Amino acid sequence: MHLLGPWFLFLVPEYLAFSASSDWQFQHPKALYAWEGACVWIPCTYRIPDFDDALKTFVLFHNPNYNDKTKRFEGTILYENKEDGKFPSEQRVQFLEPDRKNCTLKINPVYANDSGLLGLRMESKKNNKWMEKTHLSVSEKPFPPHIQLPPEIQESQEITLTCLLNFSCYGYQIRLQWFLEGDSMTQSVVTLTSLVPDSVFTRSELKLRTQWSHHGKNVTCQLHDAKGKVLSKDTVQLNVKHVPQLKINVTPSEPTVREGDSVTMTCEVSSSNPDYRTVSWHKDGALLEGQNTLTLQLPEVTKHQSGTYCCQASNDVGTGMSGPVVLQVKYAPEPSSVQISPSPAVEGNEVKFLCASQANPPPTNYTWYHNGKEVQGRTEGTFRIPKALPWHTGTYSCVAENLLGTGQRGPGAELDVQYPPKEVTTVIQNPTSIREGDTVTLSCNYNSSNPGVTWYAWRTGSTREESSSGVLEIQNIAWNNNVISCAACNHWCSWGSQVTLNVQYAPRGVWVRKIKPLAEIYSGNSVSLQCGFASSHPKEVHFLWKKNGNVLGEESELNFDSISPEDAGSYSCWVKNSAGQTASEPWPLQVLYAPRRLRVSMSPGNQVMEGRRAALTCESDANPPISHYTWFDQNNRTFHYPGQTLRLEPVEVEHSGAYWCRGTNSVGEGHSPLSTLTVYYSPETIARQVALFLGSCLAILILAICGFKLQQRWERTQSQQGLQENSSGQSFFVRNKKVRRAPLSEGPHSLGCYNPMMEDVISYATLQFPETDTPRTGDAESSEIQRPPRDRDDSVIYSVLQKRQADDYENVVPDFPEDEGIHYSELIRFGVGERPQAPENVDYVILKH
Ligand SMILES: *[C@@H]1O[C@H](CO)[C@@H](O)[C@H](O)[C@H]1NC(C)=O
Ligand SMILES: *[C@@H]1O[C@H](CO)[C@@H](O)[C@H](O)[C@H]1NC(C)=O
Ligand SMILES: *[C@@H]1O[C@H](CO)[C@@H](O)[C@H](O)[C@H]1NC(C)=O
Ligand SMILES: *[C@@H]1O[C@H](CO)[C@@H](O)[C@H](O)[C@H]1NC(C)=O
Ligand SMILES: *[C@@H]1O[C@H](CO)[C@@H](O)[C@H](O)[C@H]1NC(C)=O
Ligand SMILES: *[C@@H]1O[C@H](CO)[C@@H](O)[C@H](O)[C@H]1NC(C)=O
Ligand SMILES: *[C@@H]1O[C@H](CO)[C@@H](O)[C@H](O)[C@H]1NC(C)=O
Repeated sequence: MHLLGPWFLFLVPEYLAFSASSDWQFQHPKALYAWEGACVWIPCTYRIPDFDDALKTFVLFHNPNYNDKTKRFEGTILYENKEDGKFPSEQRVQFLEPDRKNCTLKINPVYANDSGLLGLRMESKKNNKWMEKTHLSVSEKPFPPHIQLPPEIQESQEITLTCLLNFSCYGYQIRLQWFLEGDSMTQSVVTLTSLVPDSVFTRSELKLRTQWSHHGKNVTCQLHDAKGKVLSKDTVQLNVKHVPQLKINVTPSEPTVREGDSVTMTCEVSSSNPDYRTVSWHKDGALLEGQNTLTLQLPEVTKHQSGTYCCQASNDVGTGMSGPVVLQVKYAPEPSSVQISPSPAVEGNEVKFLCASQANPPPTNYTWYHNGKEVQGRTEGTFRIPKALPWHTGTYSCVAENLLGTGQRGPGAELDVQYPPKEVTTVIQNPTSIREGDTVTLSCNYNSSNPGVTWYAWRTGSTREESSSGVLEIQNIAWNNNVISCAACNHWCSWGSQVTLNVQYAPRGVWVRKIKPLAEIYSGNSVSLQCGFASSHPKEVHFLWKKNGNVLGEESELNFDSISPEDAGSYSCWVKNSAGQTASEPWPLQVLYAPRRLRVSMSPGNQVMEGRRAALTCESDANPPISHYTWFDQNNRTFHYPGQTLRLEPVEVEHSGAYWCRGTNSVGEGHSPLSTLTVYYSPETIARQVALFLGSCLAILILAICGFKLQQRWERTQSQQGLQENSSGQSFFVRNKKVRRAPLSEGPHSLGCYNPMMEDVISYATLQFPETDTPRTGDAESSEIQRPPRDRDDSVIYSVLQKRQADDYENVVPDFPEDEGIHYSELIRFGVGERPQAPENVDYVILKH
């Protein structure tokens, strides 16, 4: 036992519970309520302690008493199962489910004398016994339900009202019905019935949205039986807290008064829970100071007291507000004002006018004034001008009028009608006609502008510029820059029409054109050149042809009947008008012609000493230049040399002779005349020859003297004159200077030396005395030879015979047959050093053939 202690103790509650469960266990209401004629349903469950046990007998006592002597309960038996295990059912009292757990009972009907203690006496098959008791209270009359309310109710709340009746019985139908101040409330009602051992009741809940007007009203919950008969009811009075409910009473009753009338307003509190504590007045939402009573006195109203009035009152719940009362105070129109839109206005656009004048009632008539003068036909408060014009500008004012009188004319408003500059014109200021390069002054004029012109725009051709000045000065005007327009601008720009400057200018684009011949110009062609120009202003022009600065003609065409090479050159045409003149580009005129003026020029001269070099150049005039030269000697033998310059190097005495050349170009050919080249011996050769020759000459001379003297007498008469003419010469020459055309005579014809090598082409010999100071070589130039040396020794005697004076110069090549008559000889006293000694007293003789 001792060992089992802790375990035993641990199990004590269970054991006790179990031990307690040796008691029967019941669940049922402790008390039940009903009324006479209704029924009682006793929900009940029980448990027999022994698991295997089962109920055997059940007896329902009314007010049972235990008899200690008999050890039995005694009392009125309301129900009893007599036979073992069988429970009667068709009785006033029914034991509904006589099984192991359910002990539900129903008493139907129930009487008032059923009130008291009910005892449930039960015995099990294993002879366990139990007496369970419960109270039953049956009233004579149906008892009322009970209404439960929230502790405090305010307006505008959702509250739940509960109507509770602690009665419910299957078999006796009841209904709970709500009434609000006599009106049945069926909406938002929920009815609940509970019939379980814990609770037996019937309940109805009413959901209600409270209003201030619910305050003080009676709410009733009525108990109806199945037939609708009212069995009982409960009534409660609602206490709904709410703000003061207000209303304004006005005297006079019509709140439309004239200025000066008296008005009284009274704030009426129709309901307030709890009572109001403060009062205030408001006009147009603003508190009226000092008005704290329920009455508002307005002894003499003004138009400013027009407005919306209301009163307010506050209690613990909040502030209540009355509905608005609109007080209208009538008065005559006030001084007017004018509104113009838009301002400033734009010409052509619509303008609206509004006359604003406070008045009650609103003005009915308006009178409009424009610059102080009444505008006829305008009686409305607003009007519009569809298209504003500049003359609409001015001051507008108005007068309003209503039933009570006429208002005053206010200051009015200005209408400003703006428009772009009008009648813009571009004016040329130059007094005279304009020439290219001039300075042109233009001005931009306009008639009127509102607002004033602030800037200008100028358009010249495609360029556009803006300026603040209305005057444009164009420096150095171009010939074609001649269309100009201007704009005057304020907010807008108005363009004037274009002005043409009509600039005068010298002819432009002057050109020269060949119109004849079509192909190239050859010498002798008929040629026409034309002059023209692209443009000119003025159109009247003069033409002028110039060649190398020389004026040739004044027609537009320049004609050559037969052009010559001399006409070639640079031609230009000048075209002139009153503004100036312009020259064309130089036009080169080329004339093509065959070679001409050919001549052979010789270098270094036409007298060359043998052994030197000589260059013969064929000079010519030809266009195009000569392409081919041919060289000939005097016998027309060609040299088979095509160049322009024929070089002879070294030149030999045999080269002496005449040459000519022929030149060829694409046009034709030309010939030069003969040019003679003289190649003379070198001094060495001459010395050799002279020495050889002098001997033989001397012999011949002696022989000739005899004959000569005979002849002298005859000749002296004839030649005396010529000798006298030339007696002043200081040197003496013997020379045959002429080219012989034909060998007219054979052999030497002069006293000089005959050069047989030269045949008859040219024959001469030059004998020259050496100079006194500087001995000269034999190739002295002919010009020097020609000059008579003045410083000669006086003892030297010269004698010159010359047949003809004219044109007798060695560089001129005479080819006239008459020249054959020129013959002269020159005898020069030979110098001491170089030449063989000559006798002092030698006489020179001129021989002529
Ligand atoms: C007992 O019996 C009654 C009548 O039939 C029944 O309505 C009730 O629900 C029962 N109780 C239990 C707990 O079963
Ligand atoms: C109880 O009252 C009813 C009717 O009122 C009656 O019929 C009945 O006999 C009464 N019972 C007792 C025990 O007096
Ligand atoms: C049941 O209702 C009756 C009558 O209104 C009342 O006397 C009794 O106290 C109520 N019992 C309970 C538990 O509410
Ligand atoms: C409301 O009930 C009270 C008493 O509960 C009663 O005095 C009063 O007259 C009733 N009011 C109305 C309107 O029925
Ligand atoms: C005002 O208008 C009414 C009706 O149009 C007219 O009879 C009355 O003469 C007008 N008053 C004035 C001052 O123009
Ligand atoms: C402007 O134009 C109006 C109407 O064409 C004319 O009467 C007025 O004289 C002009 N004013 C000037 C400044 O040109
Ligand atoms: C050489 O030719 C020209 C023309 O070609 C001619 O006039 C001249 O007589 C000719 N001279 C000789 C010597 O044949």
